[in-house]
Amino acid sequence: MGDETVHALAGVSLSVMGGERVAILGPSGSGKSSLLNLVGLLDRPTEGRCRIDGQDVAALDSQARARLRNEKIGFVFQHFHLLPNLTALDNVALPLHYARMPRREIDERAAAALVAVGLSARQVHRPEQLSGGERQRVAIARAIVRTPSLLLADEPTGSLDSENGQHILELIEELNRVQRITVLMITHDAGIAARFPRCIHMRDGRILADLFNE
Ligand SMILES: Nc1ncnc2c1ncn2[C@@H]1O[C@H](COP(=O)(O)OP(=O)(O)OP(=O)(O)O)[C@@H](O)[C@H]1O
Ligand SMILES: [Mg+2]
Repeated sequence: MGDETVHALAGVSLSVMGGERVAILGPSGSGKSSLLNLVGLLDRPTEGRCRIDGQDVAALDSQARARLRNEKIGFVFQHFHLLPNLTALDNVALPLHYARMPRREIDERAAAALVAVGLSARQVHRPEQLSGGERQRVAIARAIVRTPSLLLADEPTGSLDSENGQHILELIEELNRVQRITVLMITHDAGIAARFPRCIHMRDGRILADLFNE
């Protein structure tokens, strides 16, 4: 940034095993999103390594990174990031189009993902016709439609009231428990983090504590 160098992350070392459910906590600006974006192949580290299933992903070209991201990683964001002109079904189907599947299979898989998040009755609704909680369900359906091994969520309950936030949390827990999807989730809420078996506390671009709840 101009004359100033910002170290969004420094000296961070972390491994997550398949099937874990990990909360990332920390004040604003502590590097939570930066960490998630590195793991999710949205950003590259200037130094250091990032390995997914043993493969060093920093070395891959952008096409290979995009393919890996599409196959293995699902993203969920605070503000949903749905396309406003598409129906719920078409939003969910989007990642499948990159996989060049036949149209019928795409529709079947997208419909099944909407069933999995409890939204089978909302296929043809557009985002503006859905509540916040429903929009986040559509975003989660889109994130899991290619059956990723890793779900990355950046404050997925941050825009929701506590009841809808609770439902989204339960859905994410179920995906971890039933489908064995590894979950890394950022939250500002210590109460939410307490429900996770493992909590990573960040401060000033570093890991302050990496704690296992029993
Ligand atoms: N593209 C960028 N250019 C320069 N600095 C950046 C950039 N992205 C993030 N930063 C800085 O890196 C640090 C970490 O930012 P990051 O977005 O990871 O924090 P965060 O923990 O996710 O915060 P929040 O809780 O507010 O979302 C901050 O100091 C931020 O200002
Ligand atoms: Mg952030």
